[in-house]
Amino acid sequence: MRLLVTGGAGFIGANFVHQTVAERPDTTVTVLDALTYAGNKASLESVAGRIDFVHGDIADLDLVDELVSGVDAVVHFAAESHNDNSLTEPWPFVQTNIVGTYALLQAVRRHDVRYHHVSTDEVYGDLTADEPAFTERTPYNPSSPYSATKASSDLLVRAWARSFGVRATLSNCSNNYGPYQHVEKFIPRQITNLIDGVRPRLYGAGHQIRDWIHVDDHNRAVWDILDRGRVGQTYLIGANGELDNKTVVRMLLEAFDRDPDDFDHVTDRPGHDQRYAIDATLLRTELGWEPRYADFRAGLAATIQWYRDNESWWRPDKAATERAYAAAGEQTLGSV
Ligand code: NAD
Ligand code: DAU
Repeated sequence: MRLLVTGGAGFIGANFVHQTVAERPDTTVTVLDALTYAGNKASLESVAGRIDFVHGDIADLDLVDELVSGVDAVVHFAAESHNDNSLTEPWPFVQTNIVGTYALLQAVRRHDVRYHHVSTDEVYGDLTADEPAFTERTPYNPSSPYSATKASSDLLVRAWARSFGVRATLSNCSNNYGPYQHVEKFIPRQITNLIDGVRPRLYGAGHQIRDWIHVDDHNRAVWDILDRGRVGQTYLIGANGELDNKTVVRMLLEAFDRDPDDFDHVTDRPGHDQRYAIDATLLRTELGWEPRYADFRAGLAATIQWYRDNESWWRPDKAATERAYAAAGEQTLGSV
């Protein structure tokens, strides 16, 4: 199979490329990535000789058309992915997540190429503590500029599948963790703070709940959908990993042999979604997918070790990321 992977220099896309090169030797991989602040060519260094890399924008209609014409399938990871950034400057989210997806859809439509769209559970909004988990039938109700643009892109995909017969599948996954995740995100930000001897930074009281899944489990599900998913179908991906943010920070502190209460409460995120939770019954029963990382604490320990071993990968981004949080007004709170 000849595969075009958009966003392959980002967190999930790079892990997908590594998994594909290791486990699918018959697949030819071309990565299309704009190398924004979130893209890092070093994430693909160890597979550089085994893939083609194209530096370009998914919203470039001509480039996308040319690349799509030469492949059998597209897996679309590229996005502006960070909620906090979408609150500071929403425009790149509209451009990449909506216009970029449009460009890909027009190309796969024209060349009748199979398309898989990688999306997020955030399109469904948030849940209260006792509401049932999201399913494929949950109505869309996004809260942030990020999740609104991801929801918009999902709706474009559904429309192109129904109106034009595009052979598309979609997946909506919960919060990923693992190697190569940018230090702006919750878990790597706290790991790298702890390596630097800085206290972890918890938004507000830290009662918000996320449903954690290891990035390799996410990517195995994407491959199962590519292999055996029904065209036109949405699959939710999640590994029953619900934890509140305070619990995760305490686990990280314990992994560093630090007092579990040795963290700072900082300014909360405006409009902060309370809880995400995934019911992945369809994926499990129809496609036989099961997560391999059942133990979150063990997955976290391996992730911490990866950041310890790969300081040269994350160090160049750390100071600028912390400066951006400070410039956006993040402040330590006395009490919550
Ligand atoms: P990321 O921010 O780490 O990586 C995004 C990649 O896309 C980067 O390499 C960046 O350079 C590239 N990119 C951005 N704009 C581009 C453009 N216009 N043209 C070409 N490339 C561009 O993101 P991630 O966390 O790896 O997320 C990947 C996908 O998975 C996104 O679609 C995201 O919405 C989705 N998702 C993420 C999570 C999560 O927990 N991180 C969970 C569910 C779904
Ligand atoms: O649910 C899937 C989504 O998960 C993806 O679609 C997004 O691309 C991905 O970024 C992630 O979104 P979140 O906003 O949930 O992830 P983030 O890592 O930014 O934050 C996780 C939680 O931790 C959230 O409740 C905010 C909180 N947080 C975050 C940071 C950066 C903190 O308490 N402190 C922090 O320093």
